[in-house]
Amino acid sequence: MHYFNFKKNNLYCEEFKVEDLAKQYGTPLYVYSSKTILEHFWKLEKAFEEINPLICYSVKANSNLSFLKLLTSQGSGLDIVSGGELYRAKKVKCPGNRIVYASVGKTDKEIEEALKYGILMFNVESVPELKRINNIAKRLNKKAAVALRVNPDVTPKTHKYITTGKKENKFGIDKDTAKDIFLKSKKYSNLRIIGIHIHIGSQITEGEPFVKAIQKIKTFIESLKKLGVKLEYLNIGGGLGIVYDNEIPQTAKEFADKILPLIKKISLKLILEPGRFIAGNAGILVSKVIYMKDTPQKKFIIVDAAMNDLARPSLYSAYHKIAALRKYKNKIKNGKKSDVVGSICESGDFLGKDRELEVKEGEYVAVFGAGAYGFSMSSNYNSRPRAAELLVKDKKTFLIRKRETYKDLVKEEIII
Ligand code: LLP
Repeated sequence: MHYFNFKKNNLYCEEFKVEDLAKQYGTPLYVYSSKTILEHFWKLEKAFEEINPLICYSVKANSNLSFLKLLTSQGSGLDIVSGGELYRAKKVKCPGNRIVYASVGKTDKEIEEALKYGILMFNVESVPELKRINNIAKRLNKKAAVALRVNPDVTPKTHKYITTGKKENKFGIDKDTAKDIFLKSKKYSNLRIIGIHIHIGSQITEGEPFVKAIQKIKTFIESLKKLGVKLEYLNIGGGLGIVYDNEIPQTAKEFADKILPLIKKISLKLILEPGRFIAGNAGILVSKVIYMKDTPQKKFIIVDAAMNDLARPSLYSAYHKIAALRKYKNKIKNGKKSDVVGSICESGDFLGKDRELEVKEGEYVAVFGAGAYGFSMSSNYNSRPRAAELLVKDKKTFLIRKRETYKDLVKEEIII
């Protein structure tokens, strides 16, 4: 079921005509569908119900508090990567035993706060980090549970910036070092090294790279078992791909069918960390057309959203579908294809290139697939206040983040 649909030539989010929302709340505006968010979460839950895994939604994809609350109230845990994300997790009262914490550079303060909150475990990325967590736990008179993030060295067939499981990436610990840590685990008096974590990358549309990585890790876990190492958890990270253009990504069920036979043989408690799969297609970015600019070479649709609102096209050359909120019965003859661009002073500032889009000045467009890594990666570049965020839920709309003001832009600055 899709909750962003055209009805009578107008785009709707659940029961709401998006154009009405744009007029009421202004643009640029992120609009999220709670039904979509939950449906994605439930699909994953259902696909794996046989083994009842802990699903820890990856906060970095979309960290709005209402977004997090919606998921944690359904039993989701959270995958966090910073003290800021821990703060958000606490704000929505996510129980500590549903929080896992990854990142290559956790600071002492971040580690201490997470230990005090009683998170389920740290996903540890290096030996110095392991020592640091052990020392801090000792000082606080606590035992810290940790999983070692092991680098499975597989190629996930995705953009190089979002590939994480190859041995030349900065993430994780190689298997030999990990084995050594497990065998010498006694020297970490305040740690319980109870799991293995892998995460091979993001926007992976096929099951095969996951199967390869899990197979490798299975062999590794078996070798550890033979050496008497006792594990409780296997965390396979996130990375499930979604439709942006004409991809045909695996469904949650197909993914589960592919990996469950392997997972069952490993027989450890499974943790998943989906971000994009839950949030990506649950949100759109709505923007108003400021000018239609025609040049001899090209046509530009200049809109009021820009790379500061949605960085993915500029940063990864990512494709996002763009459509006018209103479809015309009689086609407007626009002629050339258009680039949809923002007003930022960089040629890299675009939301889409070479699009056929029937739209006029003053009308609105929607950028699809903007629910994940959209607002959460937005910035104030060019002193642009960040967009407002709106959640459609239970036949109502909720403003879940106010549009920033000019005052907000300078509120931490000091004129000397
Ligand atoms: N777990 C770990 C350890 C991760 O590093 C990530 C994402 C996830 C889970 C969630 O991955 P997902 O299910 O969303 O693929 N900004 C990029 C994506 C960066 C992903 C970083 N790590 C983009 O816009 O495509």
